[in-house]
Amino acid sequence: MNSKRPIVAIDGPVGAGKSVAARALARELGFSYLNTGAMYRAVALAARAAGVGPDDANVEALLGPVLAAIKIGFDGDKIMLNDRDVSASVGKPEIGDLASRFSALGAVRARMRELQRAAGADGGVVMEGRDIGTAIFPDAEFKFFLDADVKTRAHRRFEELKRKGASITEHEVLEQLIERDRRDRGRELAPLRRADDAMEIDSTNLSIDAVVTAMKAQINARINAAKDLKRA
Ligand code: DC
Repeated sequence: MNSKRPIVAIDGPVGAGKSVAARALARELGFSYLNTGAMYRAVALAARAAGVGPDDANVEALLGPVLAAIKIGFDGDKIMLNDRDVSASVGKPEIGDLASRFSALGAVRARMRELQRAAGADGGVVMEGRDIGTAIFPDAEFKFFLDADVKTRAHRRFEELKRKGASITEHEVLEQLIERDRRDRGRELAPLRRADDAMEIDSTNLSIDAVVTAMKAQINARINAAKDLKRA
C-alpha cells in the first residue's frame, strides 16, 4: 500500500488568493506549505545580485553558477536566500515582474523543478504556483486551480502592496498584472494553465475561509469515496 501522504497542488494567476488559501489549508491538514512563486522571486534577486538580466545574451549560461549554488529556505514567514533574510525585497512588484521574466528560461525551470520535487518527495505538502499540477507533480493526489476576475485580483494585490507601503496606483497594478498573466500563460515552458484534472475555484466572490472550505470538502469527499470503495 502507498502510505506516502498526499500532495496538494494549487495553481493560478496573481491575486487569485493562492498563498493565503494554501497556507491556511496546510495548517488545517497539518501539512507543510511551499510557495514556489517566492522561489522564482528569490532567483530573480540572486540573478540581479550577480548582475545578470533576463534579456542578456547567454543569460542561461550566466545563470549556471548562480543556480547551481542557490540556497532557498523558508523559516516561518521569512524567506532566506543563500542564508540571508530577503523577505522584505521578494514581495516588491518589480521583483514579481523580474521573476516572471526569468521563469520563462529552461535552466531556471529545471533547477526549480529539481528543488520543488525534492521538497515534495515525502508528500504531506501543499504547494502553490503556476505549474505544480501540470509539470512539477502531475500525479498530485489533489489539484486546484484558483482564479478570479482580473479587476478583483488587481484590487487585492493593490491592497496588499498598500499595506506594505508600496507607492503604486491600482491602475498600474492592473496593467502589470495583465502583462504578467499574459507572459505566464503564453510562455513555451510549463505555461500557467489548469491541469485537466484540477478542480477550478473562482474566488471572485468568495472569502478565503470559503475557498479553504471548498478545498477541504473536495479532499474529504475523495478520501471518503476511496474508503467506501475499499470497504465494498
Ligand atoms: O506567485 P508569484 O506571483 O510570487 O510568482 C512570481 C512569478 O514566478 C510568476 O509571475 C511566474 C513565476 N512562477 C512560475 O513560473 N512558476 C511557479 N510555479 C510559480 C511562479
